[in-house]
Amino acid sequence: MVVLKKATRAEHDFLVWIDIQNEGCSSTYKDTWSSENFENHKKMIMQFIEDPNKLAYVLVDKETKENVGGIYARFRNRIKEELPRWSIFLNIDQSHFPGDGRFCESFQLWVHPDYRRKGLATKLKLKLEEESLKRGIRTLYTHTEATNTHVIELNLKLGYFEVRKGPIWDDIPRVSLIKHL
Ligand SMILES: CC(C)(COP(=O)(O)OP(=O)(O)OC[C@H]1O[C@@H](n2cnc3c(N)ncnc32)[C@H](O)[C@@H]1OP(=O)(O)O)[C@@H](O)C(=O)NCCC(=O)NCCS
Repeated sequence: MVVLKKATRAEHDFLVWIDIQNEGCSSTYKDTWSSENFENHKKMIMQFIEDPNKLAYVLVDKETKENVGGIYARFRNRIKEELPRWSIFLNIDQSHFPGDGRFCESFQLWVHPDYRRKGLATKLKLKLEEESLKRGIRTLYTHTEATNTHVIELNLKLGYFEVRKGPIWDDIPRVSLIKHL
């Protein structure tokens, strides 16, 4: 049986591992990092455990006690944040965002290969919806590389719709998706 829990400091290494292995992302920029870059990155990932505007969930196999999946999320405000000019949130039609600017961005969704196609990624994303609603947030955003058609399908099944397709911070085409609750 697999259970879902909010990530704590005990899961920090696992979250770092999900991030570093980068499955589903063709970008390899992390390969060139110095040990200092890496340490700073680990601190940044700790914020998904400690910062009240961020969170991460993990999936745990109750029998083996192994972590078998996870997702990161950030609760954001498109109006109040100072966004860089290249930010995707300045390059999507504003009408897709609510008047108060608040939304939840999710990323680094990963499920262990032995546990896939059992609805676990769906479970993680639905948990984020539940948490967003508790915070009064009714808009969810995510993006994925355009070649990840199964991830796009997963999101479309959940009720997301495509709002943009094209490069964001590098030359890889990505699909941006939004869901309103
Ligand atoms: C993408 C990923 C998280 C999906 O996890 P999962 O637990 O298998 O997903 P679910 O079981 O909730 O799938 C829900 C639906 O999404 C679609 N889907 C998911 N994986 C699919 C695949 N490999 N091929 C086709 N459709 C797929 C299907 O419609 C599926 O419903 P179905 O099984 O009833 O047909 C998992 O494959 C993974 O970790 N991949 C590597 C990391 C990655 O690419 N992450 C995304 C980076 S943006």
